[in-house]
Amino acid sequence: MHIVNVDGRDAEVFRQFYAVKYAVRQEELEFPVGLGAEEARVLMAGTHTDVRADGAGLVDGDVWAGVVWFDWWLAGNTDTVDVEFAVAPAYRRRGIATRLLDVAIDWARSAGRRVLSGVNLAGDPVTGDSPGSAFAAARGFVRKHSELHQVLELPIDVQERAVPGYELVQWREHTPVEWLEQFADLQTGMSQDVPAGERTTEPVLWTPQLIREAEARRLAQGRFTYTTAAVHGASGELAAYTQMGGTPETPDRLGQYDTYVRRSHRGHGLGLAVKAPNLRALQAGLARPAVLHTWNAPENAPMIAVNDRLGFRPVNIRTTWELAVR
Ligand SMILES: CC(C)(COP(=O)(O)OP(=O)(O)OC[C@H]1O[C@@H](n2cnc3c(N)ncnc32)[C@H](O)[C@@H]1OP(=O)(O)O)[C@@H](O)C(=O)NCCC(=O)NCCS
Repeated sequence: MHIVNVDGRDAEVFRQFYAVKYAVRQEELEFPVGLGAEEARVLMAGTHTDVRADGAGLVDGDVWAGVVWFDWWLAGNTDTVDVEFAVAPAYRRRGIATRLLDVAIDWARSAGRRVLSGVNLAGDPVTGDSPGSAFAAARGFVRKHSELHQVLELPIDVQERAVPGYELVQWREHTPVEWLEQFADLQTGMSQDVPAGERTTEPVLWTPQLIREAEARRLAQGRFTYTTAAVHGASGELAAYTQMGGTPETPDRLGQYDTYVRRSHRGHGLGLAVKAPNLRALQAGLARPAVLHTWNAPENAPMIAVNDRLGFRPVNIRTTWELAVR
């Protein structure tokens, strides 16, 4: 078997790499999630300010036995590289992931990264256990955080409740220029406040330029996004926002992305006040039933309570693991 370096600009290598990653997701999850092929290709093939993505495969003759995906963070978390291993079922328990881990450690060292961080999506909804967590523990990774994966099958009957003193604004692919500075602030707040357990993480300092770049990348990936934000009438402050979206490539799968309420505006029910109308807008654009996915730390009780009220149900526990690299 030999190692192949995966560069998203090489169409054939990317196709083989993605096929393994996607097949493993399909097999391990009741609701497969993750980037569609085109979303993943754009991420891997492009140059971005905040991340560089590449990978490696272990190939047996011409059969791809296993792969590892890397996210090399460039704006915040520059000590960390995120890794995702996937091994074809016929090749399991033969040391394939262990060999790919050796590659990951080598590459991380060469790039001066201190931490390998991996997320296991398929954890049992009560214990969080899965083959991925068994592998991580066996190879010295330490469990740092867990999040509950919940799904909501759409369409639903959306109950909205306005909060006095706040007005809603909604937008699609581009943040209106008048909200850009404040929206960057809110996204930074989200990155500072989202519960991270014991994970090694640095907040990302969002700027209008990073927002515009993220918007352009989503468009290049074929994604659509719905944003609803709440504006505090008395101060003109952008107080809360939520974002949801998807891609026509995977029409049955939608993502609940960020939801954030600025610290000084918490306790008024703004989470639900922005989520419900965003869901209504998202649903209105759907041509067929779809499943909305979200992940939240169990300690993030207010967010899970909002989701429960909307009708979300739990399916898995996603756990984050870290390995220190010296
Ligand atoms: C997790 C996964 C990558 C492991 O791949 P693999 O090539 O079978 O792993 P290895 O053969 O290198 O296993 C190394 C050790 O991990 C542990 N391990 C791996 N799979 C295990 C399982 N299903 N149950 C218990 N322990 C397991 C064992 O200690 C194993 O050593 P052993 O076989 O000598 O007992 C593979 O099962 C997979 O693709 N799962 C789905 C995707 C996933 O969970 N990825 C990890 C998240 S990033």
